[in-house]
Amino acid sequence: MTSSHAQADNPGSPLQRLIETAIAARENAVAPYSRFRVGAALETTTGEMIGGCNIENATYGLTVCAERVALFRAIAQGQRHFRRIVIVAETEEPTPPCGACRQVLWEFGGDLEVILAHPLTRQVSAVHRLSQLLPCAFDSRFLTAKAEEK
Ligand code: THU
Repeated sequence: MTSSHAQADNPGSPLQRLIETAIAARENAVAPYSRFRVGAALETTTGEMIGGCNIENATYGLTVCAERVALFRAIAQGQRHFRRIVIVAETEEPTPPCGACRQVLWEFGGDLEVILAHPLTRQVSAVHRLSQLLPCAFDSRFLTAKAEEK
């Protein structure tokens, strides 16, 4: 379900802790070129929370978004099953994940809940499903179902 209404949540709830994890990770953003600082936090199906921040590079193109940093950190820790991701950036309109991150999240996270929140209000500003943000996704199903090779 997609919602653009902020939902107040109990302090200390898993969602609020996930938001805090994303906000804390954002503090470590390396964004000297864009000055656009992003934090993300993934929650595993067992309740673990792993944060990430964007890490820019002087080549620009080698920059990695907060969402992929969080995901790759989680995978390196042996996590493979995810429930939701929180993304925080200081924008009036909630910042959604870029197209590349949507694709990579789909590969590992499936139809995650994607929660956009604001680092100052610490509130949720929008909730999506990844399948809504990445309709008709390409994934490994197509590789195994491909037509007979020549
Ligand atoms: N960025 C993210 O980390 N996540 C997003 O969802 C959007 C963009 C970063 C990449 C780059 O460091 C900066 O924001 C500007 O694009």
